[in-house]
Formats: sequence, C-alpha cells, structure tokens
Amino acid sequence: MKPTTALDVTVQAQILELLEVLRNETGMGLLIITHDLGVVADIADRVVVMHNGCVVETGNADQVYHSPQHAYTKKLISAAPGNGLMSDSDMSAKPILKIQNISKEYSGCKALDSVSFDLLEGESIAIVGESGSGKSTTAKLLMGLEDASGGRALYMGKDIFTLSKKEMKSIRRDIQMVFQDPSQSLNPRMSIFQIISEPWIIHPDILPKSQWEERVIALLEQVGLSAEHRHRYPHQFSGGQRQRIAIARALAVEPRIIVCDEAVSALDVSIQAQVIDLLANLQKELKISFIFIAHDLPVVKDFADRVIVMRLGKIVEIGTVRQIFENPTQPYTQALLNASLDPDPRVQSVRRAERIALSAS
Ligand SMILES: Nc1ncnc2c1ncn2[C@@H]1O[C@H](COP(=O)(O)OP(=O)(O)OP(=O)(O)O)[C@@H](O)[C@H]1O
Ligand SMILES: [Mg+2]
Repeated sequence: MKPTTALDVTVQAQILELLEVLRNETGMGLLIITHDLGVVADIADRVVVMHNGCVVETGNADQVYHSPQHAYTKKLISAAPGNGLMSDSDMSAKPILKIQNISKEYSGCKALDSVSFDLLEGESIAIVGESGSGKSTTAKLLMGLEDASGGRALYMGKDIFTLSKKEMKSIRRDIQMVFQDPSQSLNPRMSIFQIISEPWIIHPDILPKSQWEERVIALLEQVGLSAEHRHRYPHQFSGGQRQRIAIARALAVEPRIIVCDEAVSALDVSIQAQVIDLLANLQKELKISFIFIAHDLPVVKDFADRVIVMRLGKIVEIGTVRQIFENPTQPYTQALLNASLDPDPRVQSVRRAERIALSAS
C-alpha cells in the first residue's frame, strides 16, 4: 500500500524494479494502491479508479490514461503533475538572498559542503536530489533551526547566520517555512483563528487586534477556505486543507520568502495540483520568492523557474527548469530524470527500457 510514496525517485524506481522482478519470477499478482499516476504508468497492467468509496472506471493502464471515460478519471489525469507548460524564467530580477559556501557538519559527516546560489526576487527555485543529499539541511540553516558550520546567507545584504536575536526576529517574519506534514506544524488544541493569528502576538506591530478577525477571514479566502473555517480545529480538515491553513499562517506575516520542504509530497495528485496552483498564484500576486524542496520532478517542472540538483551535500547542477529538464549536462541529473515516473504509460515504458539499458551498459 503506497509502498513508495515517501521515497526519493531513485529508490522508488529500485523498489518498483524489485516488485516487477518478483512478480515475473514467482508469478504472483500485485495489487498496488497509490495516488501516484507515475507508479501506475510504470508498473500496472490494469487500473481500478476509485472515488468516494466506489469504483468509477477500470481498464488497462494505456486505455485509462489515453481515453479515460469517467469524468473523475479525466479530472485525475489532467491534474497529473508535469503536464503544464514550463515557465520561461525571468533572470533579470535582483537577488533577495545570496547563499555563499554554506556548510554543515554533523559529528564529522558533511551534510552540506560549500553550497552557493542566489534566490531572485519573485523567483521559485526548486531543490531536488536523493534522500540525504542535504535539501532539508539547507532549509534548516536558512530558517535558523540549525547553526551553519561555515559560509554566509545574505538577506538584503545582512548575513542571517550572524544576526543578533532581535534582528533575527524581524527576519523570521520575512522568511517563512511550510513543512511536509501540516498536522505536525499545526497545534491540535488551537482553533484555526488562533493558529493564523498567533504570529501577530509574536510580532505585535503587524496588525492591531481589532483587525485580526477580518484579516484571518481574508487569509482563509486567499488560500481557498472560507470564513466559518476559523472556528474549527485542525483535526476537522483534510490533509490538503491543513496544508492551506499552514500556508495562510505563513502568509499572515507577509513574508518575502517561503521555504517549502516537501510541502505537497503527502497530498494526492488532484489536491497536490490545487495547492501548487495556489502557490503559483501567490507567487505572482504577492511577488514572494520560493525555495521549493521536492523529490517529485514533475511537480517541480510545473512550478519552478530554476532547479538545483543536489547530491551528497553538494550542488551537481543548477539551471532554468527548461535547461534541467531538456538539456541536463550532468549524468546524475540525467539518471534522476530517468528514474522519475511520467504518468503516461507509453512514455514510462520507453523510460523504463532506457533505464534498464543504462544499468546494463
Ligand atoms: N541532526 C542530524 N544529525 C546527524 N546527521 C544529520 C542530522 N540531520 C541530517 N543529517 C544527515 O545529513 C545529511 C543530509 O540530510 P538532509 O535531511 O538534509 O537530507 P534531504 O536531502 O533532506 O533528504 P530527504 O529527501 O530524505 O528528506 C544526511 O546524511 C543525514 O543523515
Ligand atoms: Mg528532507
């Protein structure tokens, strides 16, 4: 059941390979339950589409993907990531964050090794790479959740690694984070109103109390929820809705930068597409810059302006989304792209053949 959801692409490909080999050798049947259409395209012969507890469509993988019959199947397939147009990046904007040679050592082991990149105003930069490549460590250093072992991170010209507590507090406001699992970042004992307005207690200069109610409602509406949701508690929402609440809370302090660490990885495809749309709209409307950490390359392709590929704590390649997806220069990037799963069973069967040929050579 969802055996590969939380895994990075290369490990996911290996597990699917293994299941395939076991199936061929033993003749066993394989029932895969997943929200990932790429997994379906890669391994399934037949597909059963379920909606609200009922089977709405069955067929072979190719039929279901290329000529879906039921309205729900059509919606699911059009929501599959990677089907959108890649953005042509505007590289003329000014850097808002300059990351220079940042490193992090954990008891002798280098989790990050001299990583440098600029984040431009209004840009979304994605960080991809295998598990353990240093993606979350990069985020943690920028958020001040861990101390850097070396390097600088200049925000509006000031190094955030050497700020005083007071200066850090004001920068905290400008750089917000959205995590993978919103149920861990939302206090279950607080109402949605309390959760979204809490940052205004910490930063009293943002908004007078008399305006909190109105602003909470506006924020809920901005993320696609409604006014009466403010009286509810986190457990009364779905995963996608909880992620919207976490985004509303991040927006409450009017940040300039949002760091998303696997923020949509736990959501199913149609909800994922909705949250990505929401983030893309916020980026356009509010000119917020994003650092978007993800192991799902098709999602990155839809959302990012530029992509950073990391491996073993170092940057392997950095380029516009178009360069990385169409002309990757590094073999590691190529391997990562080959290991990622396309929702189209035809594309996937070609990719699988290439992958097998590559590992045989
Ligand atoms: N608190 C810690 N103590 C010791 N080592 C750590 C700690 N946090 C991370 N590491 C190590 O640092 C390296 C990078 O970890 P990091 O969490 O940044 O990877 P990641 O790219 O986010 O991986 P994933 O895709 O699995 O989330 C790993 O080798 C990890 O084991
Ligand atoms: Mg991580």
